Amino acid sequence: MIGIIGGSGVKVSDLLADPIEQTTVTPWGEATVWRGHFAGQRVLFLPRHGPGHKVAPHAINYRANIAALWHAGARQVIATAAVGSVNSAAPPGSFVICDQFIDFTVGRQSTFFGPPVPPAPDDSWDLLLARCAEVVHTDFTEPYCPNLRYHLIQAATELQLPHLQAGCYVCTEGPRYETPAEIRIFRRWEADVVGMTGVPEVALARELGLCYATVALVTNMAAGLQGQHLAHTDVVALMRQRGQALQDLLKNALGRCRKGAGPGCNCRGERS
Ligand code: HPA
Repeated sequence: MIGIIGGSGVKVSDLLADPIEQTTVTPWGEATVWRGHFAGQRVLFLPRHGPGHKVAPHAINYRANIAALWHAGARQVIATAAVGSVNSAAPPGSFVICDQFIDFTVGRQSTFFGPPVPPAPDDSWDLLLARCAEVVHTDFTEPYCPNLRYHLIQAATELQLPHLQAGCYVCTEGPRYETPAEIRIFRRWEADVVGMTGVPEVALARELGLCYATVALVTNMAAGLQGQHLAHTDVVALMRQRGQALQDLLKNALGRCRKGAGPGCNCRGERS
C-alpha cells in the first residue's frame, strides 16, 4: 500500500475520501495515520506535524511516524514538503523531485538501529524490533526510491508542471529559517532546496525497507534571495495556492505506481 506524508499546508481532507483516523502505539511513541481512498485506491495518509499541525519540525517524532506507516501496511511512501529554493531554476510554485540530501540537523533521533531497543507494545512488533537490535550501516548511494521518483517525474512531465527532475535537499534543524550566510553556503554546496523535515524521515524509511520519495513544493526563495523577510503564513498561502497542482501530481503518480511499470529499485535490498 502507498502512504502519503503530508507536510505543511496538506490536510487529510484535501486528499482522502472516507478517511478513518487510527492512532498507533509504536515502540517509539504514538502517531496518527488515516486510512482512506485517493485516486480510486486505498492509501494511508500521515500528517507529518500531527493532527492540527501542532508539532514543530524539530520536535516531530519521526520514528513513530515512519513506524506507524510501516505497521499500517505502507511499503511505498510519497512525502510532500514545503521548501525554500536556493536555485533560481526552481522558483516558487515549482516542484523538485529530490534525489540527494544534506543533513544539517542536530540532535534528532535519527535511527531505529542499535541498542537499547524499546519495549514492544504487542507482539506485532517483535520481528521489527529484533532487526532494530543490530548495528546496521545503511547504504545511501541512492537516498530516494528511483522507482517512485520515476513515476513522479513522469506525472509532473505529463501534467506540464514546472519541476526539476532531481535536486539536492538540505535539511536544517529549524524551527527558525536560515540566515542568508547559511543559504550562501548551501548554494556553494550545489544544493537546490532547503527545508526542515526531510531528515531523518528519509533515512528511517530506508531502514525499514520502505520505498520513499519526496516531492518538494517551492514556497519561497530562501532567506536573502528574495526581496523580503520570510513568513510562515506566506509559505502556507503558497502551499494552498498550489494545492490543486500537488493533488493532481500525486493522483497521476499514484495511478502510475499502481500500473507498476518503472525501473524498479533496491530499497528493500541487502544492508551491510
Ligand atoms: N527554509 C526552510 N524551510 C522552509 C522554507 C525555507 O526557506 N520554506 C518552506 N520551508
